[in-house]
Amino acid sequence: MPQILPLNHDALVIAGMQIRAGRLVAFPTETVYGLGADATNGEAVAAIFEAKGRPRFNPLIVHVADIGAAREIGRLGETAERLAAEFWPGPLTLVVKRQPNTSVSQLVSAGLDTIALRLPAHEGAQAFLEAAQRPLAAPSANRSGKVSPTTARHVAEELGDAVALILDDGPCSIGLESTVVDLSGEAPALLRPGGVTAEALEEALGRPLATPQSGDTVKSPGMLESHYAPSLPLRMNAQETEPGEALLAFGPAPEATLNLSESGDLREAAANLFAMLRDLDHPDFTGIAVASIPNEGLGRAINDRLRRAAAQPGK
Ligand code: TXA
Ligand code: MG
Repeated sequence: MPQILPLNHDALVIAGMQIRAGRLVAFPTETVYGLGADATNGEAVAAIFEAKGRPRFNPLIVHVADIGAAREIGRLGETAERLAAEFWPGPLTLVVKRQPNTSVSQLVSAGLDTIALRLPAHEGAQAFLEAAQRPLAAPSANRSGKVSPTTARHVAEELGDAVALILDDGPCSIGLESTVVDLSGEAPALLRPGGVTAEALEEALGRPLATPQSGDTVKSPGMLESHYAPSLPLRMNAQETEPGEALLAFGPAPEATLNLSESGDLREAAANLFAMLRDLDHPDFTGIAVASIPNEGLGRAINDRLRRAAAQPGK
């Protein structure tokens, strides 16, 4: 098993050294746990793809300690500056053109001329970025295609010794990945709904977000991959369970196996989603029936993840 250390000063010193030595360190963010490597070290970045079993055509997000670092790596135009001012630090990833002279490895961008940038709000993640003294390439710290980890234990169970060290700071507060917005094209496009709601983004932009067609694989390469899939078949908008199925409820439901939020709170549901899917993904059950979730605010991101999980039964 990998080393798991509580995220404190001593652990951060060790983690910083590991990163500068080209090793992989998993760390908490407000969204999900990330699998971090020095983004300027091509071999370290290659080790991320290896550890996750991730296809090389799926680019990674670069995490930065401050907006100055973001500007050195990507060309933040007026729109990116506006969204960064409003939503950073926080669960928003901006895809922009790469700076031609950036030291960030080409492998991070998977051959594209764009780069995804994020400035996380989590204090431990910020402290880790400072200790590392490097921009950190970090996808979610799960095997490719599986559900993202929201605790250090999820990371250890899934990645094992592929990761040198896991910094543990308890469960992630948001529990869903960041929202990914592409600003490299003519109109801002929503590549992945997430922790910042589409409604809030559209209000800040003063215009609706485009959504790329599913065939547009160049714009959103991550959409090619199967994602967020438990091994059991998953069914959405379930009114009742079939024999053998677990019920993942939302709102009052005495018959629930687990409940995303008894009070019907979308924030609470998002924070519980991935851990509960992991818990229910168990041979005791034949499938997972999920109650319907309102398709607004964070509910859009929750439904996006559930749709992907439902599309990949028995994976
Ligand atoms: O909340 C998060 O975003 C977490 C934490 C660790 O920060 N990270 C995360 O990374 O979810 P990952 O690799 O699991 O998802 C990144 C998504 C993928 O769908 C990928 O295709 C997309 O961002 N992406 C990255 N770079 C891109 C680029 N240059 N153009 C288009 N999409 C990009
Ligand atoms: Mg992921």
